[in-house]
Amino acid sequence: MALPPAFLDELRARMPLPGLIGRKTRLLKSGRNWKGCCPFHGEKTPSFYVYDDHFHCFGCGAHGDAISFVMRAEGAAFPEAVERLAAEAGLEVPKPSAQEAARERRARDLHAVMAAAAEAYHRRLFLPEGRPALDYLLRRGLSEATIRAFLLGWAPSGRGAIAADLRPEGITEEQMLEAGLLRAGEAGDPPRDFFYGRVMFPIRDRRGRVIAFGGRILGDGQPKYVNSPETPLFRKRMGLYGLDLAREGAFRGASVVAVEGYMDVIALHQAGFTGAVAPLGTALTPEQLEELWRLSPEPVLCFDGDAAGARAAARAAETALPLITTERTLRFATLPAGEDPDTLTARGGRTAFQAVLDAAQPMAEALYALVAEGRPAATPEQRAALRNRLAGAAGTIADKALAAEYRRVLLDRFFAASRPARGGRPRSVDHTPDLQSPLHPLTRL
Ligand code: UTP
Ligand code: MN
Repeated sequence: MALPPAFLDELRARMPLPGLIGRKTRLLKSGRNWKGCCPFHGEKTPSFYVYDDHFHCFGCGAHGDAISFVMRAEGAAFPEAVERLAAEAGLEVPKPSAQEAARERRARDLHAVMAAAAEAYHRRLFLPEGRPALDYLLRRGLSEATIRAFLLGWAPSGRGAIAADLRPEGITEEQMLEAGLLRAGEAGDPPRDFFYGRVMFPIRDRRGRVIAFGGRILGDGQPKYVNSPETPLFRKRMGLYGLDLAREGAFRGASVVAVEGYMDVIALHQAGFTGAVAPLGTALTPEQLEELWRLSPEPVLCFDGDAAGARAAARAAETALPLITTERTLRFATLPAGEDPDTLTARGGRTAFQAVLDAAQPMAEALYALVAEGRPAATPEQRAALRNRLAGAAGTIADKALAAEYRRVLLDRFFAASRPARGGRPRSVDHTPDLQSPLHPLTRL
């Protein structure tokens, strides 16, 4: 309860301490002040002093003003002590403004709202109505322990489910709107559920507090995943799915690896890769890279083995280059074509994904492939263009010494790739020239 300081000052001024305290213990004048036996600890000789605006006990250290005296002497909470004193002083306790009250409630309760929602969705997964969703998750290979560890849930198809679950807990519609659990209805319509007919994936922050949800449709349909809107708790660019568990995993020595999807993170954790995380449906951001580096100096980024995966890897490299130092870098792993970590571990178990991790390339090597990929390097013009791109990529590294090393390593590889091989014929760059291949950002460097 935030009360205006001016009101509290007035209250203290109207309630002289000697009168108030004199009811509990006998006070004698001592110079300009008063003294007596301390009401808070048994004593025979007085060491409790009362001044204009505060009391102090030299015996037990008790210390405070009129409000804290009432709190201690009568076991009252702050608002209650204020109420009692105000009644005696003939003052009215000001009501906090609606705006102020709302702000306080928000700050305090939004996390609790999200926690309650996650519990509610999770409970429904185990009710008869959630059976198809539970079966779906089990069919996808998740154990019940995994489902519980990730607090997976079910948002039913009917309207009003989340409000019905949360209202009895004293959570208002306004709070549900602010938490992104409801969305405002159009033109006077009542608010509607944000998530319905979806398997729910609570997204937690690094400390394990639920800040958002991803919701997946059962089976096929579009959009496949819906994520919470941005709220005071949730900024999509900041979060990583699985981060709270991966912190623990990394602490115990697991490799920190970023993959693409929610189901990938869950499948990997279940297979024992407890350092797995995923961005929330966007390309990796600088903020997310910082989070990864808080867990490991050399996290692995894992990408699909197709053209889209190569584009995503190039984009991640471009984001990371200005941020790498001698102390923190990345490795890049590539999945077999057509697999994601979820399908790979389902098919090949732990060893299949371990092989992908073991084959991860250091940053510099991955970078060469990403820049050179699909670019012809046959004519002098094309070769010079590639050299410029390689030098340009190295040049985006902020750490000067590191940038120079990258430049040297990338150019060494460039020359090694075009040196005549044993057979006498010059080798071209690693990849078949393909002018049709999609441009990825790095190729424009
Ligand atoms: P995928 O489609 O690869 O998801 O998208 P997935 O995890 O393999 O999904 P399953 O296995 O079919 O269940 C990767 C990630 O991109 C985001 C989600 O974070 C998803 O996990 N995404 C995907 C969305 O946000 N919206 C979408 O419609 C699709
Ligand atoms: Mn998948």
